[in-house]
Amino acid sequence: MTGKINILLLGATGYIGGSIALRLLDHPHASKFNITALARTPEKWESLRCMGLNSVLGSFADLLLLEGLALEADVVIQVADADNLAAMQAILKGMRRHHTIRGSVPILIHTSGAAVFADLGAGGNFTEVHIYDDLRPDLIAEIPATQPHRRVDMELVEADSEGFVKTYIVLPGVAYGLPSGRLVEKGIQNSHSIAIPSLVRASLVRKRGGMVGMGNNVWPNVNVDDLADLYILLLNTIIVRPEYAAHGRDGFYFAENGEHTMYQVGKAICEGMNVMGVHSELEPSAFTQEDLENYFGGSDFLGSNCRCRGSRSRLLGWKPVKTTRDMLASVMPEVEETFLIQHMFLSHSHPDT
Ligand SMILES: NC(=O)c1ccc[n+]([C@@H]2O[C@H](COP(=O)([O-])OP(=O)(O)OC[C@H]3O[C@@H](n4cnc5c(N)ncnc54)[C@H](OP(=O)(O)O)[C@@H]3O)[C@@H](O)[C@H]2O)c1
Repeated sequence: MTGKINILLLGATGYIGGSIALRLLDHPHASKFNITALARTPEKWESLRCMGLNSVLGSFADLLLLEGLALEADVVIQVADADNLAAMQAILKGMRRHHTIRGSVPILIHTSGAAVFADLGAGGNFTEVHIYDDLRPDLIAEIPATQPHRRVDMELVEADSEGFVKTYIVLPGVAYGLPSGRLVEKGIQNSHSIAIPSLVRASLVRKRGGMVGMGNNVWPNVNVDDLADLYILLLNTIIVRPEYAAHGRDGFYFAENGEHTMYQVGKAICEGMNVMGVHSELEPSAFTQEDLENYFGGSDFLGSNCRCRGSRSRLLGWKPVKTTRDMLASVMPEVEETFLIQHMFLSHSHPDT
């Protein structure tokens, strides 16, 4: 690519997207980037603008806006919603027009998730033995559209095969860790992930660490900084040495650097709660059906297995440094912060207590 590269970042205020935004702003070739970010509120729009991004107010519900933004972009980095098919179709429509009008083939780096491999219904009772590898696109291609995130992933692979766009799909395992940097410091970036914080919140309310079934199910994990580094490495490779970055049917990049059982997370939460002075048994207990209804919308998704290896990601040169040990150590600060937030909320709701 020559000249300035127009990058459209979708999800810049998010947990993963904020860490990517920071790396784009601090990139050694940042002066060659023209970065546009979508913001859902006027406050976030203003904050992103002050950070030096071209910020646009809107959401994935504005399909015409998405199409127009995608039309202008050489690179779209999507880190907002893995499952919004209508939004992705609007983005692809814009990218198709970009190709028709300019003749170049734009780049789409999309965030899916390792949940595509989840064996829903495992109920936490066993450890799955099959491990997916991102160097086996033939096996990925067999995954049915009914799996989480899969419908959108398949749409992207199909679009890539038509030749008007190159698609690269990142599939993170359980992302963890409290991100740092000026987007967090200024309160722009969400600093909490999804899976572990939801378990911590439920555990604090039920006053004991929990798990689905026996907690024998296994998931991969990835630190948020390592994960954000993968996106930048992928982007750099696509720009400088595109032949080294597979795309389309082969362009799946798993992000993981270790695995954990749900029991291990439940145990770490119990220990964190005790350190915080919130009494908990030291062993996690199985969520009851009522717990699942109360905290997880009735779903036992967190009892599924999901096993995968990011061999292709590592072939690119990705060197994640944080391991499962770091993931388990990250639970304590997560418990601490969530406890303080819940405590503040309760003392505000009951000023006399
Ligand atoms: N965190 C993980 O462990 C993990 C693992 C695998 C896959 N993923 C996937 O990665 C994606 C990002 O995850 P995350 O943890 O970074 O989530 P997050 O912190 O909730 O960030 C989502 C970002 O997307 C924006 N967004 C959400 N819905 C939008 C909409 N309808 N229109 C416009 N912007 C919208 C949010 O804006 P606001 O600031 O306005 O909310 C925010 O900037 C999700 O699709 C998630 O499923 C996450």
